[in-house]
Amino acid sequence: MNDVLPGEAHLWEFLEDTVRAWLRAYGYRGIRTPVLERTELFVRSIGAATDIVEKEMYTFVDELNGESLALRPEGTAACVRAVIEHNLLYAGPQRLCYWGPMFRHERPQKGRYRQFHQVGVEALGFPGPDIDAEHLVMCARLWRRLGLDGIALDLNTLGDASARARYRARLVKHLERNEARLDADSKRRLHANPLRVLDSKNPDMKEIVEQAPRLADDLDETSLRQFEALQAMLRDATVEFRINTRLVRGLDYYNGAVYEWVSDRLGAQNAVCAGGRYDGLVEHIGGKPTPACGFAMGVERLLVLLKAGAAAAPRGADVYLLRQGAAAERYGARVAEQLREAGLSVVLHCGGGGFKSQMKKADTSGARFAVIVGDDEAASDVVSVKPLREAAQQIRASVAEAIDLIKGKA
Ligand code: HAM
Repeated sequence: MNDVLPGEAHLWEFLEDTVRAWLRAYGYRGIRTPVLERTELFVRSIGAATDIVEKEMYTFVDELNGESLALRPEGTAACVRAVIEHNLLYAGPQRLCYWGPMFRHERPQKGRYRQFHQVGVEALGFPGPDIDAEHLVMCARLWRRLGLDGIALDLNTLGDASARARYRARLVKHLERNEARLDADSKRRLHANPLRVLDSKNPDMKEIVEQAPRLADDLDETSLRQFEALQAMLRDATVEFRINTRLVRGLDYYNGAVYEWVSDRLGAQNAVCAGGRYDGLVEHIGGKPTPACGFAMGVERLLVLLKAGAAAAPRGADVYLLRQGAAAERYGARVAEQLREAGLSVVLHCGGGGFKSQMKKADTSGARFAVIVGDDEAASDVVSVKPLREAAQQIRASVAEAIDLIKGKA
């Protein structure tokens, strides 16, 4: 679990602002659910035999009433629970989004933490595939807005429940035939969650996985048609993708189209964003049958890419205001308020000291401009403005002129 220190705060804020504007551009509305839910909700929705539920949840018994609670490992289950509980679908299909901390007791490594943050989007009540396409087009737009390239889209379809049941039976047979060669993890999963065996990272399992039957051969007509239509929509929108028939996802609630956005700049934990359809989940946890799909992205992983990429997140305020002298101190405080009134962000130097040491602070603050006032400026009601991020002359200007200059209007 990490502390986000002030040195990184500007990147978080840049991402938060960009994401907020992006979600608004597609008409998604926020939903905020508690970080604690009943354990049972996650067991039912994510699946009892998944890694998340089996070994990654922070679960405890509430001593006051004996209830088992868990810190949320993801956002979809709670979002669907809230939608059912508050009857939101009564008003029609819902486009929802959230941002917040999630908790998984995993072995920490680069890009994998025990408390991490997700931006998630859920669309409930839409049968697709138009909405699935919307989600993928929208992700592609976010990567562009953030200046991130090299994020590739892997796409697959899992088919409907009966297709998966047919496939599961064939897969179990294949694995049983090779049972002696299965590693301990795969043996455990063989009957509980055989699809997860395909995800095994153990090189000794590679051959068995490669020889396994293919889900594609069991797919139902409707899922196939929907998948074809989704691909056509992506081609129309010039969103590039690769079909990856081995993509199964680690949560049980999926059916139909599923996907992961991956970057080779992230090391082993290469997925920045993942999601897909979960048409059975609303009914499964007590609502009316409702088609649904969504995705979530890992904020920490996006930040790794942002830091590595060229995206210029503004690091500091617009202005660092330097002031020296009794009259200048009072005048500077007033000017700072005038600049803020005009919409600029201003760090007002506090704590005295000479101009030289103040200028050092202005530089390291990351501000774009220094606005300098001495008693001289105070007496003539002007300021001196010095750009800090480019080589340019310091100039004297009225406060109004300074505002125009800093806003790039002069
Ligand atoms: P997920 O694949 O488990 O899906 O997680 C989504 C994303 O969260 C991952 O692609 C990754 O970027 C990030 N993430 C997951 N675990 C960690 C971790 N330990 N540390 C850092 N980042 C992590 C879900 O959670 C689904 N609820 C997505 C979804 C929404 N499907 C439909 N709607």
